[in-house]
Amino acid sequence: MTCDLYDFPIVALSRRQFIWQAAASSVGVATTKLHEGEWSYLLHAQSPDSSTGTFGPFRHGVASGDPLTDRVVLWTRVTSNESPSTGIDVEWRIATDPSMDAVAARGNVRAASEHDFTVKVDVGDLRPGRTYYYAFYAGAQRSPIGRTKTLPAADAARARLALLCCSNYPSGFFNVYRCVANRADLDAVVHVGDYIYEFENGRYGDGAGPLRIPEPRREAVSLSDYRIRYATYRSDPDLQEAHRQHPFIAVWDDHELTNDAWSGGASNHNPEQGEGDWPTRQAAAYRAYLEWMPIREAPGAGIHLYRSFRFGSLLDLIMLDTRGLRDRQANDPAAFVDPKRTMLGAAQEAWLFDELRSSQRAGTAWRFLGQQVLFARVTPPGWPVLSSDLWDGYQAARDRVLDFLANESVRDVAVLSGDLHSSWALDIARDPWRQYQPATGEGSMAVELLAPAISSPPLFATPSMRERAPLLRTFLPHLKFLDGDNRGYVLIDLTPKQIQADWYHVPTVLERTDGEARAASFVCEKGSSRLVPA
Ligand SMILES: [Fe+2]
Repeated sequence: MTCDLYDFPIVALSRRQFIWQAAASSVGVATTKLHEGEWSYLLHAQSPDSSTGTFGPFRHGVASGDPLTDRVVLWTRVTSNESPSTGIDVEWRIATDPSMDAVAARGNVRAASEHDFTVKVDVGDLRPGRTYYYAFYAGAQRSPIGRTKTLPAADAARARLALLCCSNYPSGFFNVYRCVANRADLDAVVHVGDYIYEFENGRYGDGAGPLRIPEPRREAVSLSDYRIRYATYRSDPDLQEAHRQHPFIAVWDDHELTNDAWSGGASNHNPEQGEGDWPTRQAAAYRAYLEWMPIREAPGAGIHLYRSFRFGSLLDLIMLDTRGLRDRQANDPAAFVDPKRTMLGAAQEAWLFDELRSSQRAGTAWRFLGQQVLFARVTPPGWPVLSSDLWDGYQAARDRVLDFLANESVRDVAVLSGDLHSSWALDIARDPWRQYQPATGEGSMAVELLAPAISSPPLFATPSMRERAPLLRTFLPHLKFLDGDNRGYVLIDLTPKQIQADWYHVPTVLERTDGEARAASFVCEKGSSRLVPA
């Protein structure tokens, strides 16, 4: 979502509403004890080359992603002064021990200029539920040793995920990435986008934070621009460490393209300012995203980021792209309910329904939809839509999903969201004002967990926005938790019987720190489709 949205239209308030506002209260913070989790080896930070301060040619670190039970994608980039047109030979190794002695597989790959000297290897024949270590070698130089983990086999008893989004480089330090890196026991990091921001230096997120200048200093428009922007972000040591410690499962939001993107354009795409045609820019952004992210690429042409991950009988994590394939944002109330408008595109929507149906029929305990924008209805009856970029602006598309859940008896669904630079926990009801009981959760069909920003400016940072948080708490009966002031992430623990979501916030992004504190904790018991304080 957008920096413009930070001004989503304020609703005219009656005097009485203001009085209600004063009476509104937030959900209390629960204080159950932390999970210990299943510990695996935590690698200690490794010493870079003392002469250069970097790992030789591997100065953008290593990463892994898209784990399956038998395979995982490994990533690195080779930086060379020569950048030969023939490419640079790289060896990769994956091992079962952190000292890389017990090598399970190895191979060679070429870092080529047509992929910006990034390298991706989809390593197969691995064992399920195992921690692996990996490194790349170029000449006499070795990359940092990364750690990754395959998805569990069918009998998985628990899993732990971190939900992240919205890391704006000029806004502040990536302390949230550091906190996530410090956790030894994550199965995967789920990143729902705004991994980079396209804006030119000084346009957004600057001024209040430390001096962190995103290269190129102009707005990212071309393939070269996007590549350089990713390189800037991936130079950050805290982001590098998060990638080195955990596999990522990522999808983009709008700022990997440009603000408020949709399938045919974006509010921040301006051909009249020399930014060219949209298909060219979109293809450039997509190509750079695939080059720089540890994502398993779908065959065929065209944007295709939706894909799913099965954590045994515990979870089907269904990752959706609600950005690259959607119809244009509307301003007309008739358009919000127009059944012809789509958030997912026809192919992805059909795929989603197939995934949900087969997951429910397989008896998988939980279904998570990892996606970008707030799904639950947050516009009270009679109010103007708060933001047409959210699912509230695509109500017919949302109704199709809810109809499917109801008609096919698909239960135990959690929507994982980001984009809003604030922390939200909600029950998802078709009509929270008429078909939902706040006291019991009756009428709720699923739950939603929305992660705050890693560093981007908080949604409720301005005085006018700050006034809205208590109003939303008052007028949204299905809203369980809302914090609009802090950066952080959501830690999600699953067992066959329940999920627990803990919102962790960091104290600052103005200096580097790995401090954090739990701000809220909710559980959803299997079969309940509702959140209650832990
Ligand atoms: Fe964002």
